[in-house]
Amino acid sequence: MSDYALKVEGLTLDFPRGPRRIVEDLSFTVPEGRTLAIVGSSGSGKTLASLAVMGLLPQGIEVTRGEILLDGVNVLELTDEERRRMRNTRIAMVLQNPMSAFDPIFTIWSHFKETMTSHRDFGSRRAGADRSEMRAQAVASLGRVGFEDPQRILELYPFQMSGGMLQRVMLALALLDSPPLVIADEATTDLDVVSQAHVLRLLKEHCRENRLSLLLITHDLSVAAGLADEMVVMDSGRQTESGTVREIFAHAESDCARRLLAVHRALYSERYVRITANLAGRETPREAVR
Ligand SMILES: Nc1ncnc2c1ncn2[C@@H]1O[C@H](COP(=O)(O)OP(=O)(O)O)[C@@H](O)[C@H]1O
Ligand SMILES: [Mg+2]
Repeated sequence: MSDYALKVEGLTLDFPRGPRRIVEDLSFTVPEGRTLAIVGSSGSGKTLASLAVMGLLPQGIEVTRGEILLDGVNVLELTDEERRRMRNTRIAMVLQNPMSAFDPIFTIWSHFKETMTSHRDFGSRRAGADRSEMRAQAVASLGRVGFEDPQRILELYPFQMSGGMLQRVMLALALLDSPPLVIADEATTDLDVVSQAHVLRLLKEHCRENRLSLLLITHDLSVAAGLADEMVVMDSGRQTESGTVREIFAHAESDCARRLLAVHRALYSERYVRITANLAGRETPREAVR
């Protein structure tokens, strides 16, 4: 057994037919049961790097160098079928923009059924579960993300729910089987401050209680400060620095990290920045100031 959930070494992404390199020589490790944040401004290559991990790069973009090791297995050497199995059993993904992640003509219960059926096809422990067992699991999962009336939520259509509620449903769906690695790409970016704090806290508690590893992708240093143990900073496809959250808050070296810190400081008071630096990895930052 490896002591990391995910190890990326020298990952390079290119448009083989294009003039431009997208990601160059990116390396990071998500240790077992810990949280690593990839932080960088918009367009720096964070999402494409995470899609490469999932084996879901858009057409026309390829991994031209590097290794992606998940539990010691190089993801890049898997067949399509093996990669599908990996996505259904080893990794959960929580994405930005919950509105577009749900199908408007299906209820939340339909979404749960579809996810569970897909996991079951890949041999999850729910194999053989009947409708009432599946329903009970959906209810339990919605309860874990803070819904007080999960039975009612299951009957709703996505348009009947707020963005914050949908993001929590997405979290419940992603965490159904507590897969060992969770990738959250700007998972709270579209939410208001209160919903953001709520979702971050749920994510963090769930990962801690179940010893899950979390790859957190964000342009927001305060999100990284609240959840991550370590951080990689990316700028225009390159990794500019890496270290513990505390180290980078205390002495950011790259221009990019300094810029992100300046934004963070402009948004929040000095006292807040001090608190988030001290509490890095322990509390949701926005709650630390209350
Ligand atoms: N499907 C795509 N086809 C071509 N270029 C893309 C595609 N998705 C993203 N890009 C480009 O790749 C770069 C990195 O994008 P992305 O990984 O989405 O950045 P981030 O998530 O850090 O904001 C950007 O310049 C973006 O315009
Ligand atoms: Mg992105």
